[in-house]
Amino acid sequence: MLSLDLAGLRGGLASDMPSNLTITEFGTSADGRRADLYTIRNERGAEVKITNYGGIVTSIKVPDRHGQLGEVVLGFDSLREYLGAHPCYGATIGRYANRIAKARFLLSGREYRLAANDGSNHLHGGYKGFDKVFWEPDPLLAEESSALRLRYLSIDGEEGYPGNLSVSVTFSLSEDNALKIDYAATTDETTILNLTNHSYFNLTDGGSSDILDHELRIEADYYLPIDREALPCGAVREVAGTAFDFRRSTAIGLRIADKDEQLLFGEGYNHLWVLRDTEETPAHAATVSDPKSGRIVELFTTEPGVQLFTANFPANMFRGRDGSFCPSRGGFCLEAQHCPDSPNHPEYPSTVLNPGEIYRQTTIYRFSV
Ligand code: GLA
Repeated sequence: MLSLDLAGLRGGLASDMPSNLTITEFGTSADGRRADLYTIRNERGAEVKITNYGGIVTSIKVPDRHGQLGEVVLGFDSLREYLGAHPCYGATIGRYANRIAKARFLLSGREYRLAANDGSNHLHGGYKGFDKVFWEPDPLLAEESSALRLRYLSIDGEEGYPGNLSVSVTFSLSEDNALKIDYAATTDETTILNLTNHSYFNLTDGGSSDILDHELRIEADYYLPIDREALPCGAVREVAGTAFDFRRSTAIGLRIADKDEQLLFGEGYNHLWVLRDTEETPAHAATVSDPKSGRIVELFTTEPGVQLFTANFPANMFRGRDGSFCPSRGGFCLEAQHCPDSPNHPEYPSTVLNPGEIYRQTTIYRFSV
């Protein structure tokens, strides 16, 4: 296994500059595309691994209450497995995260048709979304803490979307164990954009057990009800008095099996909460704590919503890091994003991006005990 310490690589540049970013080979696809794995480590030993294939966060290791470093996301340790079937583990999702009804939308008086890759609807950018492309890596070396920027040019018409779209996603890890993800994008033609990260967290063991005892709090008074196809029905609904009320820290599993139409449609939680605070700077959106390990993850974001998905797939459907099957509810996703199907719902915050505008999003997952 080839491991490159960037400090050495820079050779004559500033060889004494410390670097907490290392590169290792991750694999090569059938058409010869090479993927690398970028490991960012902070002084406290926490680490994040990201590959330029799909902009995927493959691993996050943080300490538990005893200071023991452990894995807290679902994923794999080689490219080969990510080229196989998996439910978007850790991926960067785009151009449009979540669903677009009937795989079509109207924009500037013109109808755009997208891939119907989720029944008759469009999901996560189509058959070959941003989670299945090779991003251009651009390691950003800094005295204090290095970061990884990934760039991708999505050409006009890709998966049916208009406009040549230049996207960058920058991952950095701070000394207080916060993984920050900065998104930016520009276009040369009016288009739509809704980016997110699809990490599945399991604060106990990275996916061998279920997360039903994890305690969740979401800073939201409303959520978006869905229909049988997991499409939003339109109006927001109050969380008060429902199984969607996470205004106080509550075990994810407490009400997940309730005979509630919304939970039946979602096969568990697969809904967007409308966040109370949406500002230029990332606002606190949610907190999850694991009574077993003592680990906590807090979500901060500039996005107006967060999609909670509780890995509602059968136990023997997807494999995990050690090759064994992932249990149902083996992880939870907190996908900071705009509302699903916004192009067909003018009442939701707009996802339209025009030439001359810069799309920006900052989302932070901060780990503690
Ligand atoms: C999102 C969707 C889910 C499922 C997962 C994995 O969380 O809301 O319905 O599709 O992605 O793809």
